[in-house]
Amino acid sequence: MLDTAVPSLAPTTDPAWLLVEEGFTLVREHELESQFAIANGYLGSRGSLAEGCPLSAPATYIAGVFDAEPGSVPHLVEIHDWCHLSVSICGQPLRLDVGRTLEHRRILDMRQAILWRFWRHEDKDGRITRIRSFRFASQADRHLLVHCVEITPENYSGPLLLDASLAASATQTTHEGVSVSVALANRVLDPDGRVIGSTELLSGNQPFRAKRGSTYRLERVAAVYTSRETDRPNEAAQRHAEDALNRLTEIIADHQRAWQIRWHASDVRIEGAPEDQRALRFAAYHLLSCANPDDERVSIGARGLSGPGYKGHVLWDTEIFMLPFFTLTWPEAARAMLMYRYHTLPAARANAARLGYSGALYAWESAATGEDVTPSFVGTPEGEVIRILTGEQEHHISADVAYAVWQYWDATRDDRFLLDAGLEILIETARFWASRVVLEEDGRYHIRCVIGPDEYHESVDDNAYTNGMAQWNLETAANVAERCAVYWPEEWQAIGRRIAVSEEEIQSWRNIARDIYTGFDERTGLFEQFRGYFELEDIDLSRFANRIAPMDVILGRENIAKTKIIKQPDVVMLVYLLWDRLPAEVRKANFEYYEPRCGHGSSLSPAIHAVVAARLGNMALAEHYFRQTAEIDLANNMGNSAAGVHMAALGGLWQSAVFGFAGLHLGESEPRFQPNLPESWRRLSMRFQWRNNWFDVALP
Ligand code: BGC
Repeated sequence: MLDTAVPSLAPTTDPAWLLVEEGFTLVREHELESQFAIANGYLGSRGSLAEGCPLSAPATYIAGVFDAEPGSVPHLVEIHDWCHLSVSICGQPLRLDVGRTLEHRRILDMRQAILWRFWRHEDKDGRITRIRSFRFASQADRHLLVHCVEITPENYSGPLLLDASLAASATQTTHEGVSVSVALANRVLDPDGRVIGSTELLSGNQPFRAKRGSTYRLERVAAVYTSRETDRPNEAAQRHAEDALNRLTEIIADHQRAWQIRWHASDVRIEGAPEDQRALRFAAYHLLSCANPDDERVSIGARGLSGPGYKGHVLWDTEIFMLPFFTLTWPEAARAMLMYRYHTLPAARANAARLGYSGALYAWESAATGEDVTPSFVGTPEGEVIRILTGEQEHHISADVAYAVWQYWDATRDDRFLLDAGLEILIETARFWASRVVLEEDGRYHIRCVIGPDEYHESVDDNAYTNGMAQWNLETAANVAERCAVYWPEEWQAIGRRIAVSEEEIQSWRNIARDIYTGFDERTGLFEQFRGYFELEDIDLSRFANRIAPMDVILGRENIAKTKIIKQPDVVMLVYLLWDRLPAEVRKANFEYYEPRCGHGSSLSPAIHAVVAARLGNMALAEHYFRQTAEIDLANNMGNSAAGVHMAALGGLWQSAVFGFAGLHLGESEPRFQPNLPESWRRLSMRFQWRNNWFDVALP
């Protein structure tokens, strides 16, 4: 008899940790699959129904494993549906769309990181079956996925047929040279905990007799290995799956403990606003689910491991939007993500060289190697083919990566990282900018033909964000290099042997930073977003307040480029990132000018407006943008959560609570808080790590 923890496991009772979906609404299925995804930074699996439904799109991904069809860019590989299970009762399939559902509830238990399902169903002959199931991606052992299902015939006895044949017991596939092995170990137990079968009982052709009122249970473990971790992934997966099934109770306990540790470090607690509390936990749940401090070869894609959006590619979303959360609550994970940028530095150098520049130009969209994998074209639903220029022009990514390197080091003082990797990134990105700028007749350095964060305006000159961040990058690289030369002369010499940097070169960065064109107008205190922006047509966005489509769709791509409407914060983004370098009146003037002109055509947009509005004390606007951010996935308010949750918006939500409402400033000598909490937030408490100390904070 087997006594596992499965029957006694239950969801957390406190509703502030739960996301509950009652009933079943077919059209919501894709967005729910994203919301309810389970992941552990190595594996991620969409929260699809085990038996499927007409709109199910199950998918399980492995971080960093990509494949490409000829002529297209790489996408995250989908491994087979490891938790597929169909159940038939007396010859009738148990499905939500056949018979009558008496009860159906799915619960994402964020505290335990377990996805639950409770289902009571009556077939057309009146037979009532109860199902209780859960699944999770182990946070303690990243190679494991666990799925347990309990089946109880409530008012009948009869043949029960289980079919999990889609999930063969072991498979091996190869993708761009990486072989992936998935092995399953299963067992079916009777009400006394006796094993009555395993894989053969899940083949779909071996019914067994189930007794009225008795609970039968399927316990299954999938283990995944790739040739990146071992040269015998198949053996490793098979052995691991069998072993884990035999230690299921321990596997469950380890997973729960691992999440307890994560939440202890990362939970932001809000008293007085249960919806905001849940939204913040939802954000942290997905962020924590996608990180892996043990793998420096991968980073987090725009939709994490929850869906196919952006094909799993890594963008500035990671460094600018998600990373601060990790830097302050899980620095080991932040470090691994930055190391991904270090390991992809050779590709960034090649990317710069390909365009005739020096140093490192990071790929706008990056996959396994760091080569630029931004698609060049996209087809619209109307059949139009649109050229995508972001891969060629959105160069600010290099400064964004540099910014994250510095921010991480400043908050952790992880000198080893700086000396082994970070400084090289700072130098190579500064080098890129030094070759990218052009000294023109006005005696100023200019950066022509770029796309800033606002992608509604392409091929623009002197984008304020790009120039401002390039200036910051050049100055910071110069400062840090000089500091290293003084404090760590030996290491500095070693770095010099790898990427010789002369004093003249450092001086040239300072000169460029001093003389770069910034678009700043002393008179108005405004930055012009790019050359000519102020002459564009001004359109009153309040006239479109009730729109359901983004502004570029309403006006058309060509037309919107002739207007001042922007897709997302650009100057405001610069103000946010370089906050302490700008006078208060400049921050305010730019926010007040650009905020009404922003169409929020990107999920990255509202969170930054929330942070800046909160810091400026504009609480009504800050709360409005905070909620808009929270609803991007929780209410699918951009209509595209089906492709995965929006990781940058989730990181942005955390930033708006911590850097916005709580007003955390990481100063030179100590962190400070200047809180502006929403009225309903009676109290905010959190922990964070700064320069090797943990701080426990409660506001007010
Ligand atoms: C935004 C980018 C972002 C990308 C992925 C785009 O819509 O404009 O800034 O990196 O989505 O989230």
